[in-house]
Amino acid sequence: MIYIKTPEEIELTRAACDLCSRTLGEVARLIAPGVTTRKLDDIAREFILDNGGKPACLGYHGFPGTLCIEVNDTVVHGFPSNYELREGDIVGTDCVVELNGFHGDSCYTFAVGEIDPKTERLLDITFESLYVGIEMAVAGNRVGDISNAVQRFCESNGYSVVREMCGHGIGREMHEDPEVPNYGRRGTGPVLQNGMLICIEPMINLGSRNIRIAQNGWECRTRDHKPSAHYEHTLLINNDEPEILTTFDYIESALGIA
Ligand code: MF3
Ligand code: CO
Repeated sequence: MIYIKTPEEIELTRAACDLCSRTLGEVARLIAPGVTTRKLDDIAREFILDNGGKPACLGYHGFPGTLCIEVNDTVVHGFPSNYELREGDIVGTDCVVELNGFHGDSCYTFAVGEIDPKTERLLDITFESLYVGIEMAVAGNRVGDISNAVQRFCESNGYSVVREMCGHGIGREMHEDPEVPNYGRRGTGPVLQNGMLICIEPMINLGSRNIRIAQNGWECRTRDHKPSAHYEHTLLINNDEPEILTTFDYIESALGIA
């Protein structure tokens, strides 16, 4: 069941998305060798709570963090831990904020210091694929048009697309219909309509697309232990066009790249 949002619900989601984006901006300021992923998580949780929000991942089906932490070969759902970031690592931080009953969801993969040029290109292409997908999120298109665009872009650049995890609708729930896979066929799936809120989140591997889920039932790594990248925005279909409600501006100004 896909819920078309009212203007009031959209305004509440805008606020949740802004807080989510500002939280990742706070996280960005800390990314450096020697910092533990638990420190990133603590800062995110405190910032969300200080601003009247709720860390939506924390306790979600028992998940132990505010952020999902994705170091190197971790694709999604990594736990915050005592692991200290090292020069050359990449780390994805996936954050969902609930504010006034609505959710905002965004993810950014950071480079820690200098990284391998091959990994850097993986980040660049995955980042770009998010916007390639967003461009297809226009009213009248179908979800498969987004999926296919992301898949073609990533595979034609030599990367593989994780199949087991998808983007999704969002609203009162963190995950609503429709599912938004990062692979698929053009012209298939639900039709996109004004008032739909969706999250697009390509999870893209340098090596093979195969993953393995840890004993704890959460942490998901690449089978070949090659790196994986992940970026995500929450967006609204508005006036027939995609309107991105989360932003990387806070991250980019923290990193000094904008
Ligand atoms: N933020 C993830 C997503 O993009 C979901 C987090 S799973 C959780 O859908 F259990 F940690 F909440
Ligand atoms: Co998401």
